[in-house]
Amino acid sequence: MNDLPIRRNDRAADLFRQRYRDPSLPPPEDWNPVLENLLNHRSTRGFLPDPVHPDTLATILAAASSAATSSNLQTWSVVAVRDPARKSRLRPLCANQAHIDEAPLFLVFLADLARLQSIAAAKGETVEGTEFLEMLLIGIVDATLAAQNAVVALESLGLGSVYIGGIRNHPEKVAAELGLPPHIFPVFGLCVGTPDPARPTAIKPRLPQSTVVHHEQYDPAQATEALAAYDARMSDFQAEQAMPPEVWTRRTIGRVRTPAALTGRDRMRAALANLGFALR
Ligand SMILES: Cc1cc2nc3c(=O)[nH]c(=O)nc-3n(C[C@H](O)[C@H](O)[C@H](O)COP(=O)(O)O)c2cc1C
Repeated sequence: MNDLPIRRNDRAADLFRQRYRDPSLPPPEDWNPVLENLLNHRSTRGFLPDPVHPDTLATILAAASSAATSSNLQTWSVVAVRDPARKSRLRPLCANQAHIDEAPLFLVFLADLARLQSIAAAKGETVEGTEFLEMLLIGIVDATLAAQNAVVALESLGLGSVYIGGIRNHPEKVAAELGLPPHIFPVFGLCVGTPDPARPTAIKPRLPQSTVVHHEQYDPAQATEALAAYDARMSDFQAEQAMPPEVWTRRTIGRVRTPAALTGRDRMRAALANLGFALR
């Protein structure tokens, strides 16, 4: 980006305020269109039926391919699903989320060690290194960086998206539906399409920087200091969105209270073994 930073303006102050809802926080001094795009993020769960043009998809995926990748191994792939019948079969595998049917495009991002193995097999080489947990982590990190670049790109084009972690509820069934060979893991889905203006979404407040940012060394006290204030901000947000009241810290605990709270993903080790990952 060659644009010179635009000095702080009302738009920057407004987006900063919406992101943190902390009146004591000074708005940013530096500003440019990239920062505006990033701070304006919100997930989209209501889509118009308009298809995503193939050229647009190619541009979004060029942004994805432009992300950094561990050792340039590029251990990720993506399956673009447009077929309504296939999306309808994937939906119940992902906690039955209606936006999978509604979005004209469903991208499934994959940690892909199979390509590396094919390359080695063609040259008669061994691939013992791919049996280690570290290589799966590399694939997941690569897929995630690529996907987030795609999200930033599509939002810059006026499209909307929502990640679907629910794709990991039934990894083996997803693999069968998408025809994935062994050693490929579906990391998450991404519903993509034009946001329905009749169902606008708002900027969801985040934890304050004083909670998540540490300087030089991690300070455990910081992790809990400002949580009451954040709970209050999230309660306000829920009420504004006419969503059921909830306390963020309570909801967060609920997400990890028991193995069952992982909605089927407590068997991930077994699922990965079934997909061919030795995880040494
Ligand atoms: C890896 C990942 C998985 C997610 N899975 C789902 C999902 O299955 N369904 C859903 O509606 N939202 C999902 N989300 C969206 C989050 O709920 C959302 O990003 C978060 O609540 C913050 O809201 P915002 O994106 O609007 O700022 C997921 C997000 C991430 C990063």
